[in-house]
Amino acid sequence: MDHFQYRDGVLYAEDVALPEIAADVGTPFYCYSSATLVRHYEVFDQALSALEKRMVCFAVKANSHVGVLATLARAGAGADVVSEGEIRQALVAGIPASRIVFSGVGKKPSEMRFALEAGIFQFNVESLPELHALSEQAVALGAEASIALRVNPDVNPETHAKISTGQKESKFGIPMEQALEVYATAASLPGIRVQGVSVHIGSQLTVLEPFRNAFLRVRALVEELRAAGHAIEVIDLGGGLGIPYTRGNEPPLPDAYGAIVTEVMDGMDATFVFEPGRMIAGNAGIMVSEVIYVKQGAERNYLIVDAGMNDLVRPSMYDAHHDIVPVLEARQAETMVADVVGPVCETGDIFAKDREVAAVSPGDLVAFRSAGAYGAVMSGVYNSRPLIPEVLVHGAQYEVIRRRPSYEDMLGKQIMPTWLL
Ligand code: LLP
Repeated sequence: MDHFQYRDGVLYAEDVALPEIAADVGTPFYCYSSATLVRHYEVFDQALSALEKRMVCFAVKANSHVGVLATLARAGAGADVVSEGEIRQALVAGIPASRIVFSGVGKKPSEMRFALEAGIFQFNVESLPELHALSEQAVALGAEASIALRVNPDVNPETHAKISTGQKESKFGIPMEQALEVYATAASLPGIRVQGVSVHIGSQLTVLEPFRNAFLRVRALVEELRAAGHAIEVIDLGGGLGIPYTRGNEPPLPDAYGAIVTEVMDGMDATFVFEPGRMIAGNAGIMVSEVIYVKQGAERNYLIVDAGMNDLVRPSMYDAHHDIVPVLEARQAETMVADVVGPVCETGDIFAKDREVAAVSPGDLVAFRSAGAYGAVMSGVYNSRPLIPEVLVHGAQYEVIRRRPSYEDMLGKQIMPTWLL
């Protein structure tokens, strides 16, 4: 459930009418609902309540705005981060270092030092060379790095190829067959404290079996490691639970996911870490755009909006579906079939192909739903288009939490080489 609903025929974010925000900040813009963020966090956490010791670490990559992170921090969330920048944002947002896990295949020594000095909860180490580098950095600082090895269970997550991570041909994790050996090395290295096992098999999973298979393999590994004398206290099961991008196509709910975790991990004493991103932020955000033109092409209609693939790349990059709804509900009375496209000079700048959409006209506002995760964070300035603003709603209040840069701001970042002055 989210807090983007029609009231008296107008789409609202919580208690704020979207045309009001559009008039204030201009289009396009991202809009997030605080209440939805908190609700999704709580639903996910509650689904796992059978696990006495647990930590829900929001995957910052999904939406790294400090206002979003602070909203989740107040609800109790930790953070799963993949860069020094994300650690800094999580800390600024009030997420304690003791609730931060650091994932990623390419952590640089400088980032390791930053994380060690901050005193984060856990490094999820993805390779032997990374393990050695971390040991060196920890020794140099006189610190100790608490680690889990991220293992690759070789399970097909049955999702889009570009967001599958848990198969042996992917760059992520340490192959299961090498795990015991790498753990033995880890235990012998100075500056390293082995505390856990971690896994993450992919994103937008819409079936639970792959989770079950991966978790069973993790459980067996933890048992093997414990038998070999490693004190495994933490089991990090990653993120990946899918969300509904459209009605009628509903992936399993958090409760069903929680039931699988509880069943597979029955009797295991450990602190369980989860790294959900999309599940929390995806349906807590929308992107609002204005229709510029409706164009009759040779073969089809084009609905040309003022947002482009640089603002929301998911449809072009993953063939992702985002529902596109009119901000004025009455526009739904009539529909048309069109390609919904942006102004960017790329054939791939398409949000929806042959989609039955409300018969909107130039000047109408449309909302792209489910855009709170992997939306603003993946945006760019291609075609010299300014990054679009982000707005956070809280009940009847809203604030711009990232301003649209001016063209002067954008030009000011470019430096003319002296020989051309
Ligand atoms: N943990 C790790 C180690 C991850 O790599 C990811 C996502 C997550 C947690 C969070 O996964 P989630 O719960 O959000 O599924 N840009 C793509 C998604 C990339 C996901 C990358 N890793 C998209 O827009 O679909």
